[in-house]
Amino acid sequence: PLVSMKEMLETAKANSYGVGQFNLNNMEFTQAILQAAEEEKSPVILGVSEGAARYMGGFKAVVKMVEGFMDAYDVTVPVAIHLDHGSSFEKCVEAIYAGFTSVMIDGSHHPLEENIALTKKVVEVAHLCGVSVEAELGRIGGQEDDLIVDDAEAAYAIPEECEQLINETNVDCFAPALGSVHGPYKGEPNLGFDRMETISKMTAVPLVLHGGTGIPTKDIKKAISFGTAKINVNTENQISSAAKVREVLNENPDMIDPRKYLGPAREAIKATVIGKMREFGSSGQA
Ligand code: G3H
Ligand code: ZN
Repeated sequence: PLVSMKEMLETAKANSYGVGQFNLNNMEFTQAILQAAEEEKSPVILGVSEGAARYMGGFKAVVKMVEGFMDAYDVTVPVAIHLDHGSSFEKCVEAIYAGFTSVMIDGSHHPLEENIALTKKVVEVAHLCGVSVEAELGRIGGQEDDLIVDDAEAAYAIPEECEQLINETNVDCFAPALGSVHGPYKGEPNLGFDRMETISKMTAVPLVLHGGTGIPTKDIKKAISFGTAKINVNTENQISSAAKVREVLNENPDMIDPRKYLGPAREAIKATVIGKMREFGSSGQA
């Protein structure tokens, strides 16, 4: 069933595993992620950025597509459709109205008080509709769609500010930027685990780790032990699907039927997602 992230993440945190947010880019991503979740008996969060929603025909079209495949595959595991890095109050309301079960309001580029006021406003509307909310403090480096943060702007979240935002807004989960990056890492990631531990002790709210691509398993395990219950992955699925399309087209220069190269790409995404679900410990939890 389509559900919010609230219960999913509280259960994950209580049982020390992480739920993956896998981003939708097109129909094949949607199919692959839902199939992986159902086969693995894992809860799953479908992340949809504003750019990806635009590409797929808007929020409503995405909801209908997801519902269609959930019916077609008889999906029994809990699934959340989540607006990733929502840029405004208006976009969050638009997504909720279209049937999203969860939204992120990314006010991380605003000063603290403005971020809190904006997040609060989104929470008030979302909770009336049974929709969960994620907020962010600090700045995650790298690029995801319209969101570009260069090295100099990337900033670690400050624990006291995190505590204030969580207490004043009543968010359901919280993403402190602690050195993670969207897209590939330059060298080994250097995550601020000391701060993560401090933040996790200050709050009962499940934490979120963005930029899941390229984070070593030992760091994933550590993050989960410090209260992280949601881990976002997009680039890794894009890499595996693009590599498969290149391989198939290189081997078959005359191939034109998209089903013949996107079908294998879908299998590659599914295998990547299954690997993550096992690594995060969500397999068998639904
Ligand atoms: O919001 C989405 C994620 O943070 C994706 O990060 O593309 O580096 O895996 P990633
Ligand atoms: Zn992100």
